[in-house]
Amino acid sequence: MPRIPEETVEQVLAATDLVDLIGSYFPVKRAGSSFKALCPFHNEKSPSFHINAATQHFHCFGCGESGSAVGFVMKYENLPFPDAVRKLASRAGIHIIEEALDPAAEKSRRSRSRLIDLHREAAAFFHQLLLNDPAAKHARDYLKSRGFGREMAERWTIGWVPENARTFLDFAREKGYSGLELRDSGLAALRQEGDARSGLYMRFRDRLMFPIRNDYGDVIAFSARQLREDPRSGKYINSPETPIFNKSKVIFALDRARKHMLKAGYALLCEGQIDAISCHEAGLENAIAPLGTAFTPHHARLLRRYTETIVLCFDSDAAGVKATRRAFGELAAEGLAVRVVELPAGDDPDTFIRTHGIEAFRARLDAAQGFFDYMVNRASREKTLANVADRSKFARELAELVATITDAVNRDALINHLATRLQIGADEFRGSVDQAMRSLRKPAASRSDELAAPAVALSPLDNTIAYLCHLALQSPDAQAWLAEQIETLIEISPFLDGMDILRKILARRPDAGSPSAVNAFTATLPEADLRALRRDLTHLTQLPDHPLEAAASGLNQLSLRALKIRDARVRAALRDPALAPERLVALMHETKEIKRLLGGAQPAEQ
Ligand code: CTP
Ligand code: MN
Repeated sequence: MPRIPEETVEQVLAATDLVDLIGSYFPVKRAGSSFKALCPFHNEKSPSFHINAATQHFHCFGCGESGSAVGFVMKYENLPFPDAVRKLASRAGIHIIEEALDPAAEKSRRSRSRLIDLHREAAAFFHQLLLNDPAAKHARDYLKSRGFGREMAERWTIGWVPENARTFLDFAREKGYSGLELRDSGLAALRQEGDARSGLYMRFRDRLMFPIRNDYGDVIAFSARQLREDPRSGKYINSPETPIFNKSKVIFALDRARKHMLKAGYALLCEGQIDAISCHEAGLENAIAPLGTAFTPHHARLLRRYTETIVLCFDSDAAGVKATRRAFGELAAEGLAVRVVELPAGDDPDTFIRTHGIEAFRARLDAAQGFFDYMVNRASREKTLANVADRSKFARELAELVATITDAVNRDALINHLATRLQIGADEFRGSVDQAMRSLRKPAASRSDELAAPAVALSPLDNTIAYLCHLALQSPDAQAWLAEQIETLIEISPFLDGMDILRKILARRPDAGSPSAVNAFTATLPEADLRALRRDLTHLTQLPDHPLEAAASGLNQLSLRALKIRDARVRAALRDPALAPERLVALMHETKEIKRLLGGAQPAEQ
């Protein structure tokens, strides 16, 4: 259902400079004729995200994402195609005249943008009340008592909602919002559910209003803190789920923290919003907090875009320890490294910074321990590890957490480390971990059953290899060059998925650039290979300007990656305490060889 005319899309693309556009989201560096950045779609430390200014195409050699300006906005902002085009159009000052409307989609888009407008105006309204309304004196005093001044309230657009519901409802009506819109926003609710004429009441009364923003900084909800203690309702009340707010997918302060997370190399995850705010105010701008909910897989996936290390700094009470374990499970499942900051009993980051100062807090941060060391240290402080029985009980508990670690090499190293620390047998411990892994896998399998299984399985195919396949099929130069690199290709084959598809192409060498020859060749591939190729190639219809360079750079990436995997395998093998001496010598030789091949480049830390 194309609603925006083709010519308009072309016009919008012509008016957009991809380097400029991407540069407005995160830092982009010139690298010769192209531009490079850290890929926003996967985790990496060195940039493999390339922007080609000439073709206005981006491509990541790490994860294989690629596309045009529209594709970038769709992916990065998680928008459907027409919305991405609209966004670019308004950026370029182009007016879109739509063809036929899709009434349902249009309606939902319009109501979402009305809700965002309403939240923006409400936040500004509450903020003015907090700063200026004589009736808000107690709210201002409360903030002051917690050490926050006017500037902090301004920086975070903190507001105050009065006891009297009319104040806001009248304001919103005057601005033209209907009762139903107010209900849909979650700020108000119907007195009688389902009866639009029963009248509205405010969900929040006499509370501090903390705006919650999405990734892009739009206010999409509020977290409202009680000003007078009242056990009949919660200390904090959040907006309910609405079309623009899904609390399991939103992280407080992420809109501000994300670029600092990239810079700092980690995210500081606190338990409460106030903690996150205190950290920011003290200069730790990579701090974030979930919204009073348990940490979800969505949260973990969201964070993985920006960093690979999460430092947890939850309250040091029993609830905080439980939350730490829970967050660890989700983060580890996404392959993120987790460290833990410990605070004295009764403290949270906010109170700690206030009483001991930011330097003391930074010192705690520097002393953050790996999650498992934190667990073991805690347990040994509580003296539950005095005898063997206690230690094996604790080890079984840990086994379930170790089982969530996805990387086999890391997991194995950890098993040895923990067995040593707990003075238990490594094999016995490995057995408990294996068992925990088996029971973890069961629910995961039933989860994937819900997804429609493809009729034919896809062959596993690494994104960069898929890109090389594409080059080999489209560019005679790239194909000829790749065919000459067959030794390298054979060398890296055991470490990466999908090399035999590339090798099949290079063995047959169909006439690249002749579609009929290429199609004739691909027809000979097994269905699973073909599907894997197509999945990765649908958005790669265009050849890069310099296919030869692209092939060289892609292969370079692959060799390096293969080498690192090889390095990790050798290191893991070296950790085996029962290593035979001959094997040890062989492994040492291999280590030397790998070092030589890495040519000074440091292998990844384990
Ligand atoms: N929370 C909640 N409902 C409550 C208590 C807490 O939703 N009754 C959520 C809030 O999102 C809060 C987080 O859980 O930010 C952590 O709780 P807590 O540590 O009590 O919050 P603080 O940020 O320390 O709150 P404050 O310092 O304002 O007391
Ligand atoms: Mn607190």
